[in-house]
Amino acid sequence: MKKLLVTLLILAMAVSIVACGGKTPTNEPTQQPSEQPSNSAEPTQNTSGGIDIGIVLPTKDEPRWIQDETRFTEALRQTDYKVEVLFSQGDSAKEKQNVEALIAKGIKVLIICPHDGAAAAAAAEAAKKEGVTVIAYDRLITGTDAVDYYVTFDSVAVGKAQGQYLIDKATGKGNPLYLYAGAASDNNAFLFFEGAWSVLQPKIADGTFVIKNSSEAVALQDKATLTRDEMSKIIGQVTTNWDFNEAKNKAEAHLTSAKKEDKGNVFILAPNDGTARSIADTFAADKDVTSYVVTGQDAEKASVQYIIDGKQSMTVFKDVRTLVNDAINMAVTVLKGNTPETTGSYDNGATQVKAKQTEVIVVDQSNVKAALIDSGYYPASDFTGLN
Ligand code: BGC
Repeated sequence: MKKLLVTLLILAMAVSIVACGGKTPTNEPTQQPSEQPSNSAEPTQNTSGGIDIGIVLPTKDEPRWIQDETRFTEALRQTDYKVEVLFSQGDSAKEKQNVEALIAKGIKVLIICPHDGAAAAAAAEAAKKEGVTVIAYDRLITGTDAVDYYVTFDSVAVGKAQGQYLIDKATGKGNPLYLYAGAASDNNAFLFFEGAWSVLQPKIADGTFVIKNSSEAVALQDKATLTRDEMSKIIGQVTTNWDFNEAKNKAEAHLTSAKKEDKGNVFILAPNDGTARSIADTFAADKDVTSYVVTGQDAEKASVQYIIDGKQSMTVFKDVRTLVNDAINMAVTVLKGNTPETTGSYDNGATQVKAKQTEVIVVDQSNVKAALIDSGYYPASDFTGLN
């Protein structure tokens, strides 16, 4: 059985390599028939030769989005719907071109994770104009009523979990706290920060933590709830732009200007795994940093290994399979002329977007094996030093 699976896998890989025509994979379409999503009825055969569902993801430069592509590919393997996945490589103009190319191929549903939530409004509007149903995936598209649905994780809960982890690891008062955030062009960066701030702020107010790297955060530290503008000020200072190098450069600059007493046993709010690894490496290299607790999210393989090795403290596991299935089920429901189920709504600044939301799981050394390996999410052979 195992052998058969391996053979099938190799065969599938060979087919997808041929489909790529040996060109650079960036923005190269991945097109495949897919597995019928669990809770949908028989697939409708596409006879037009066109594409039914277009999927646009933000970049191949972060493992998070490769994870999503992989899980889409797995989930779509056996359906008869025609699907094409395009990557925007962190460029809103490229993203719009991708959407236009998919519209020209006749898509009925667009699943899009925007590079920049506000800039993507134009792409969503172009799709909507052609009668395409627009599903924002993971990141909300803002400032437009052209978004029909939103499938997402509970991003405020992600931030809360990160903040709470730091709180649970801290003892005494005056613990140095370094704050980092995602890209201001990503609505999620605000939700993560909002969640983290909601739990950290009381612990800053009572002296458990002392913010060391943001004068804007210090100026606002007595406010339990921040407005979007106030968060913008802090994020403006401590953004990583979701970029590993920017995260590293910022961390280096902060450590260079910090005094010895601002170091010691430090606590770091890092917004995701990619930036967490850069920031952790930078703090680990500073001789005045005795120990650090650092957060993350995405359960990227590299960070899972960091957690096993004790180099990253935690991650927030967002089971991409669930998000992918929700998005596909939504798309299939729409293709069948029905209305997808939603569980709530998100204000995108122009309208309330109906949303389906998924919960998240905190992972650290104590449960990494159970949550990510024993659960079948990753094979044990991808890691070393697992007990
Ligand atoms: C996603 C995270 C991801 C980050 C950077 C966010 O919108 O929710 O999972 O790490 O973008 O790509």
